[in-house]
Amino acid sequence: MLVETIKKKIRDIYDFPQKGIIFRDLTTAFKDKDCLHELSESLTDLYKNKGITKVVGIESRGFIMGPIMANNLGAGFVTMRKPGKLPAETWSESYEKEYGTDTIEIHKDALDENDIVVLHDDLLATGGTMIAAYNLVKRFNPQKIYVNFIVELEFLNGRNVFPADVEIDALIKY
Ligand code: PRP
Ligand code: ADE
Repeated sequence: MLVETIKKKIRDIYDFPQKGIIFRDLTTAFKDKDCLHELSESLTDLYKNKGITKVVGIESRGFIMGPIMANNLGAGFVTMRKPGKLPAETWSESYEKEYGTDTIEIHKDALDENDIVVLHDDLLATGGTMIAAYNLVKRFNPQKIYVNFIVELEFLNGRNVFPADVEIDALIKY
């Protein structure tokens, strides 16, 4: 199954969660076993031989493929969560997204300066979520931070919010 075939498995829901939004629903891709396998292989292939030590997944849809990628890469998995969910000391950042505002948090001992990190989420829209996540990971001063999505909504220009030298990869573009 090719990446183009994965795209065909993504379902479009009009006016969810607000009027004017076309929601790219990945649940229909995840539930297909061949599609899930192809997602696992394609996402992992992007970071093979890069010495990745941690995959950081963003709640909640970054928790689906993130741990699979981490396991395939022989790396650990770190959760970046919505406020009040992580039990130990955290750092947090607030941000604007395509339809509202939110805050994310990470444990202060989740990463260290020896880590080579892939930040993973299902979808890049305005980039608000991921730039907040990137800024949080930056605080740990890791060796390198890669940014990864399954889907990029190119017309929203979300990648422009990142510094020009950040390596950003998305499998599927709209
Ligand atoms: C969605 C998606 C990304 C974010 C992308 O998550 O999973 O995290 O929006 O939008 P942005 O690029 O404009 O920030 P959402 O906040 O809907 O939360 P969920 O994963 O818990 O459904
Ligand atoms: N998150 C933000 N915008 C989205 C969209 N259009 N489809 C799915 N998830 C999203």
